[in-house]
Amino acid sequence: MAKRIVMYNHKGGVGKTTSAVNSATYCALAGNRTLLVDMDPQGNASGNLSYNIYDVNANKTSKTIVEVLLNKASVREARTMFDTKELETLHLLASDNRMNEISTTLSDKLGRELILHQKLKEVDKEYDYIFIDSPPQKSIFSMNSLLAANYIVIPFFPGQYEIMGLKQLLDMFDEVKKASEVHPKLLGILITMYSKTKAMRNIIKSLADVYDELIFEKAIPLSTVVKQSTVDARPLYYSNGKSPAALAYKDFTIELLERIKKYEKGV
Ligand SMILES: Nc1ncnc2c1ncn2[C@@H]1O[C@H](COP(=O)(O)OP(=O)(O)OP(=O)(O)O)[C@@H](O)[C@H]1O
Ligand SMILES: [Mg+2]
Repeated sequence: MAKRIVMYNHKGGVGKTTSAVNSATYCALAGNRTLLVDMDPQGNASGNLSYNIYDVNANKTSKTIVEVLLNKASVREARTMFDTKELETLHLLASDNRMNEISTTLSDKLGRELILHQKLKEVDKEYDYIFIDSPPQKSIFSMNSLLAANYIVIPFFPGQYEIMGLKQLLDMFDEVKKASEVHPKLLGILITMYSKTKAMRNIIKSLADVYDELIFEKAIPLSTVVKQSTVDARPLYYSNGKSPAALAYKDFTIELLERIKKYEKGV
């Protein structure tokens, strides 16, 4: 059965998509059957995996998460492969900007927040890990992302206001656990866009005082290669695999999978 991991933070621009794309890639490179689900109408994760979000018909499959959520296609029909022969273990369930138009249609449906959870059951046996990239802000799509997940990772930009928002986020997860069929566990907080300034070190220290072991040991450094990888429409491993940011994501993925294995063993 696939373990489903959501990258969640209702704050925008904190590295959710970068973390979802690159950890899914390293997970797949390690030989795990991996699916990346793009639940964001912005389609950034899909774009970063070379999916043409401006013209869905230009892709191998023009069906996306839109058809899946509307029950017009199965996940099997809508998923596609990341466009490189080397990595057959990575599949993508893309999004596109039609998603914005369907949110009102979905809002009328009974069980509207559990649609993704139900739909992924169809492929749970075909994958080892399913990564979900959630949009910022609370919406039907972010709630579907959370309620489909077994594990939550919070990509976190270490700023003073962000620390204040964290408590609110954790309180919300308690509500989510009650509503979910699978009761997602908070796997940890991933520090993104880290730079060695005194201010940032102080913020991380005060974060560690409160959240301690929740914080992943590996932090992702601030680096221009990340933006370049979005321009290249390829994950960091392919765009600049030897860069510190790429290697940080590789190490983070190992840590992430180890944490999951510990949970699964009940340690
Ligand atoms: N470690 C990093 N170093 C430099 N730039 C980064 C890093 N991580 C992410 N970025 C850049 O910061 C921007 C936001 O990152 P990303 O899209 O991953 O965040 P997000 O949380 O998914 O945003 P949104 O809330 O809009 O979905 C992007 O332009 C991305 O290329
Ligand atoms: Mg994003």
